[in-house]
This record gives sequence, C-alpha cells and structure tokens, in this order.
Amino acid sequence: MLHMSLLFSPITMRGLTLPNRIVIAPMCQFSAVDGCATDWHLIHLGHLALSGAGLLVLEATAVEPEGRISSSCLGLYTDAQEAALARVLAVVRRYSTMPLGIQLSHAGRKASIKSPNALGPVDTREWQTVGPSPVAFAVDRRAPQELDRTGMERVIDSFAQAARRAARLGFDMIEIHSAHGYLLSSFLSPIANRRTDDYGGSLQARMRFPLEVFQGLRAAWPADRPLGVRCNGTDWHAEGITPDEAVAYAAALRDLGCDFVDVSTGGNTITEVPIEPGYQVPFSAKVRREAEVPTRAVGLIRDPHHAEAILQRGEADMIALGRGILNEPRWPWHAAEELGATVEVPHPYRRAGTRAGLPTRDHIPVTPPAKDTTVAQVQGARCT
Ligand SMILES: Cc1cc2nc3c(=O)[nH]c(=O)nc-3n(C[C@H](O)[C@H](O)[C@H](O)COP(=O)(O)O)c2cc1C
Repeated sequence: MLHMSLLFSPITMRGLTLPNRIVIAPMCQFSAVDGCATDWHLIHLGHLALSGAGLLVLEATAVEPEGRISSSCLGLYTDAQEAALARVLAVVRRYSTMPLGIQLSHAGRKASIKSPNALGPVDTREWQTVGPSPVAFAVDRRAPQELDRTGMERVIDSFAQAARRAARLGFDMIEIHSAHGYLLSSFLSPIANRRTDDYGGSLQARMRFPLEVFQGLRAAWPADRPLGVRCNGTDWHAEGITPDEAVAYAAALRDLGCDFVDVSTGGNTITEVPIEPGYQVPFSAKVRREAEVPTRAVGLIRDPHHAEAILQRGEADMIALGRGILNEPRWPWHAAEELGATVEVPHPYRRAGTRAGLPTRDHIPVTPPAKDTTVAQVQGARCT
C-alpha cells in the first residue's frame, strides 16, 4: 500500500526534493513589527514545521515598504527584517527538517489597509499605494499612483533584492505572489490595468511586467533552487482574467524557467465566489494540462482522499492547505494514517503518532532533529 499514495510520494524541483506533496499555503499573520518577524512567527511556524507536511511556505512578504498589505505584514527589504527571520528560521530548523519556502509579494493597490489582526500595538500609518492604473480597488480605498517605468524598475529590483536575502536565509523555494489582485495580479487583470502603453491592453502587454519581475528574480536566485508563481485561474468576473489567459501566462512563465504554478483565484474585485470543496481545482487541472507545467491546487481541500484523488486524476502535482492545517495542524499525520503512508513525527511526540495515542514506531518512522544531537539524545532517552 505504501507506494500507492501519490500525496505521500516525493517530488523534485531543481535541487529540492519534498518528502511528500502536502504544502502549507502562505498565510498572512499580521503580526510583524516594522516588517520584522516576531515571537508569534516562531510559535506559528514552529508548530506548523512539526506537522509532517512536505513544505512550509511563509506568508506574503513585502519586497518594499509600500508593498505591505498592512503595517503588520512581514517585509524582506531591510537588514533588521532579514535578521529577525534568521532568528526564527534557526529555531524552526533546529527541530524540523521540513523544507521552507517564502512568498514574495507586493500588495499594489490593495496595500495600506488597517491591520486586521495585530497581537501587539497597531501602527496605523497609511501610505500612497501604487498600481498599473489610478483605479481604486473599492469605493472606500484610495486610488493608487500609476507606476511609471522608473517605479517598475524599482519594483523589479526590490523583488531581486529580496530574493538575495531569501537565498542568504537559506530558503529552499520562492513563490512569487501574482494572484488575489495584488500588484502583479492587478497588472494582469483588465479590471485594474487600463494602461495604454506597452504594459496594458493585450494579454501579451498585461503580462509583460509580471514576466519582467519573474526574470529579474530568477537571475538573483540560486539556479538549483525552485521558483514558482501563485496566479489566478480566474477573477470570477466577466471583465477579469480568463482561464485561457491563465494558461497563456503559465506557459510564458514555464518558458522562463518557472518550476510550478500555484493556481488560486479572485481578489481583483469584490465578487461572488462559488466556494465548495476543491473549488479551484479545475483551474489547476487546466493550467497543468494545457500549459504543461507542474501545479499546486489549493482551496477547501480537507479530506485526505480528496487530496489523493486530485493528484491521481492528474489535476495537480501538489496540494496546498491553508485553513485546514490551521484547524488541524496534524493533518499530514492523519492523512498518512488514512492513506497507509508514513510521515516524519518529532521524536518527543512519537507516542501520539496515531489518533489512538499508540506508539507508532513501526508505522511512522521517527526522524529526530539532525542538527541538535544533544537534545535528540536526551529526548530519545526519555521516550524509549
Ligand atoms: C489566515 C490566512 C492568511 C492568508 N494569507 C495569504 C497570503 O499571505 N498569501 C496568499 O497567497 N494567500 C493567502 N491566503 C490564502 C491561502 O493561502 C489559501 O489559498 C486559501 O485560504 C484557500 O485555501 P484553504 O481553503 O485551504 O484555506 C490566506 C488565507 C488565510 C486563511
């Protein structure tokens, strides 16, 4: 049975092999201070790194101050932010071998909102946003300043600089945020992009800037580490991005060396979304089939058999979980049980490796943290 689960089979992208195909989706925590990771990130990422997933992707992390969604979002454009993340990652890596990715982002015209969820004091400063055209996201939002060529070059450079910082931090993978109506997504979408220059109008023109960002970042990121893009399969709106356009964008990215496309939807305007389990999977399936690029499916995938079936049907190569893994942080353990597979369980937790709380030595192999032999030895002595 073991070899039959695709969800629990490894996947290789460039020099990175994920032990299984469960990916923890990027999730904003609105808990940074001046863009710096805090103790909340230590707890949040630390506990998710014990879940047995194949990859943990850090939340949308801004490449310049104006690119933060709120003043409580992570950034990676100062030395202090790099140092704060280094501290968090050092602790996470001490107790987990899970590969770590980061989502690099620019919030564009959707930046500068009030932090919805700060655990500490909220910095309420607002700033002028930027976008493809001076079209506000909603009536209660300010209109962005239209990015000129100098501004676009600055953003391309900011993505590349953040990638260099991510490389120094030892991230295994970068995902560029090009979905949900943020800056790159807004360039792609006719809803937000009304430009009449080389960067607006036809799909070729609308995707020019996101592709330039991709190229700049790819050149700054080590060749053996994978780089992927989260994009919209649809804007759920008649004037928005169509699934065929998403395929064309994914194919253009593939030609530039994109290793995977994480197919999400929506966010370029406020609209009805027909939410149900796996509601975004058809877009992943189409992009995978027609653009011939590996994809990640995301969106209300909660049942391990559903996740497995999506992979078996060839609708995606990886499955990302957001809310489901916040709600059930040991989802990969439970999925492994359901699918007759194995997953890494931290040494001190191994007696809880099944729902019945029984020892699982034969069922779930234990991999103690490799880099901390002292702690591993002590814990080993307690557990045996
Ligand atoms: C708390 C929270 C924060 C999120 N932050 C991000 C983010 O930083 N970047 C992003 O691309 N999507 C973000 N999302 C969307 C998720 O990555 C995911 O695509 C979405 O929740 C659908 O998957 P799910 O049904 O498994 O939650 C967030 C979702 C949640 C619930």
